[in-house]
Amino acid sequence: MRHYFRVQVSSLVSLSVGLVLISSILTFVLTLMFASPLAEVARRFHLTGHGDEREVSTGALIHNGDIYSLRAPGALGASQISQSAMQKNQSVLIRHPKKNDLDPQPAPWIRRFLPADDSQKSEQPQSRAPQCILLGFAKCGTSALLEFLDLHPRMVTLDWEPDYFCDRMYKKYDLKWYVGRMPPSLPGQITIEKSPCYIVEHDAHLRIHAMNSSVKLLVLVRDPVTRLISEHAHYASFQHYWGMPSQSFEDRFYSNKTRRFKTNMILKVGDYSPHFQHLMKVFPRDQILIVDGDKLITNPLSQISRIETFLGLPHTISREDIYFDREKAFYCMKNRNTGDRKCMGKSKGRQHEEVSEEFKLRLADFLKPYNENFFKLVGERFNWI
Ligand SMILES: *[C@@H]1O[C@H](CO)[C@@H](O)[C@H](O)[C@H]1NC(C)=O
Ligand SMILES: *[C@@H]1O[C@H](CO)[C@@H](O)[C@H](O)[C@H]1NC(C)=O
Ligand SMILES: *[C@@H]1O[C@H](CO)[C@@H](O)[C@H](O)[C@H]1NC(C)=O
Repeated sequence: MRHYFRVQVSSLVSLSVGLVLISSILTFVLTLMFASPLAEVARRFHLTGHGDEREVSTGALIHNGDIYSLRAPGALGASQISQSAMQKNQSVLIRHPKKNDLDPQPAPWIRRFLPADDSQKSEQPQSRAPQCILLGFAKCGTSALLEFLDLHPRMVTLDWEPDYFCDRMYKKYDLKWYVGRMPPSLPGQITIEKSPCYIVEHDAHLRIHAMNSSVKLLVLVRDPVTRLISEHAHYASFQHYWGMPSQSFEDRFYSNKTRRFKTNMILKVGDYSPHFQHLMKVFPRDQILIVDGDKLITNPLSQISRIETFLGLPHTISREDIYFDREKAFYCMKNRNTGDRKCMGKSKGRQHEEVSEEFKLRLADFLKPYNENFFKLVGERFNWI
């Protein structure tokens, strides 16, 4: 009798545990079905009709199957880049993948050799939507970083900048076009592309999220003073090329007349915070890895290894794949098997104008509070002057 009773109790317990389990699974599934991450982003940005078609309501325009969200003035916060555009009610084109948009596409040169039946298709190299995107910043060594990452057998990187999610390209091309531009890869390999406009054009954050809300993001940062000097050298060399008079670094960022720094010029990209503020409203922090561009130069493996971990890949790139080039005074790559060596092209590692230590320190002083604000925002510190 007693034995029978105990059996009854234990089966009652397991029955109720089972019920609780089933109901929580049901709640989870229902949440997934009815509260898409898109709706969550739409809520945060007060976007009307931003979502997949089921969620479209007032305020959205649907044109040729693409969804435009009507953005109220100021809704997107402090974008210093497109401040003037913010003044108006603006329609932002945000494209959600339709049925086959993100499907792999055979590379054009492979297509001809494809077997007639589809069975082996998945084993062929194909262009696939990137699972990881490097957003910028410009002049932080984004090309060098992707070249290093390409040494990894499980990473395939695009060697040009499609700028797809930025206004210039996004208005012209659909997602199928974008996927078709990606380098051929095998299943299990991770495709990575980079375009520095993605971080400073905030609409790109929303567009990337609409393509794949779980895509992994890398952002490369450097000491903002070093970055500004490098950016200035970049523009000065263009001005020189076109025979235009070029301004000195000091004149570009400091006014003798008012004896003040030209705040807007410096902060546009000198303060990283507004860009991260926006990015972190769209994506969870743990989906973003901030790569230290200064350490990438002095110790590339330290950063590469962080990225391997972030992407869940084995630590394959090692000392055998890189060497320190004394002449260029930075790290270059060498092929493990053939011994072939490769350094960045001529325009990279360009000679910079001498900027006085005194001016650099004053600029660093000016940027200090902005840097501190940035460290607090992202929960990480960098060793900047
Ligand atoms: C912007 O759009 C909203 C909602 O449609 C409207 O209420 C508001 O008056 C518009 N503002 C301007 C400046 O056009
Ligand atoms: C979205 O990104 C995640 C993370 O990289 C990846 O696992 C997934 O396959 C991607 N989805 C699509 C449809 O590309
Ligand atoms: C501003 O002052 C600096 C230092 O005195 C000088 O080198 C520079 O030529 C001046 N710039 C202009 C535009 O006068």
